[in-house]
Amino acid sequence: MTTTQQLIQYKQQGRQIVALTAWDYVIAQLLDAAGVDLILVGDSMAAVLGYETTLPITLDEMLYHAKAVRRGVKQALVVVDLPFLTYQESTQQAIHSAGRALKEAGAQAVKLEGGYPAMLETIARLVQAGIPVMGHVGLTPQSVHQIGLRKQGKTEDAAQRILNEAQALEQAGVFSIVLEHIPNELALEITKKLSIPTIGIGAGVHCDGQVLVTSDLLGLSDKQPPFAKVYTNLREMIVNAVQEFAGEVRERKFPG
Ligand code: KIV
Repeated sequence: MTTTQQLIQYKQQGRQIVALTAWDYVIAQLLDAAGVDLILVGDSMAAVLGYETTLPITLDEMLYHAKAVRRGVKQALVVVDLPFLTYQESTQQAIHSAGRALKEAGAQAVKLEGGYPAMLETIARLVQAGIPVMGHVGLTPQSVHQIGLRKQGKTEDAAQRILNEAQALEQAGVFSIVLEHIPNELALEITKKLSIPTIGIGAGVHCDGQVLVTSDLLGLSDKQPPFAKVYTNLREMIVNAVQEFAGEVRERKFPG
């Protein structure tokens, strides 16, 4: 299985890291078979469950899906997002939630959002407890009611703040950082200054790897962020297939 140390080596070797999100066994199996390096059970899965934002999804829902994903993966590193308010209250709460992701779902690491001082302390404690942590800065969707879903780091001050957070996260012990929806030049600067890999989403080509939300890539989402690329339109394909089936049933052509 891919390890967190291997991902750090990939950065040293200049090998781009490929990451995607998964929410069930079938999708996880397909991504793993296609050679994805890192599979994230992201809280963006909230959209697949019909939630408007990532805020309502619970740790139990995340773990239910993470277990299914884990059963489908043989090779990729499996990282589970800790959902909103399952790690921000205290270090104890974070250790408990992250511990459940590793013990119950078989995750190899957790991801949490933000690089402010209290979060850095929590991350350092998680790492000391043997729990690998991935950071996430820039657009952090769990703060949607504070910052919206806009590109972050556009002013000099804001860019400096994100750079500082990324450096502090590396100091706290994260093995990698997601950079979401920030200017390309800022992502380049962070990527150059860190020795751990940066994984970009809406952050340009200069990161050490890229992640997309798989339902966006496959054209399953009803709305995508501006930086997503839709590689195929499964929504349309599914509707067409179902309409063909329905037509054949109604005309007594199926079963043939
Ligand atoms: O939840 C998620 O899918 C994520 C990605 C956007 C990195 O955090």
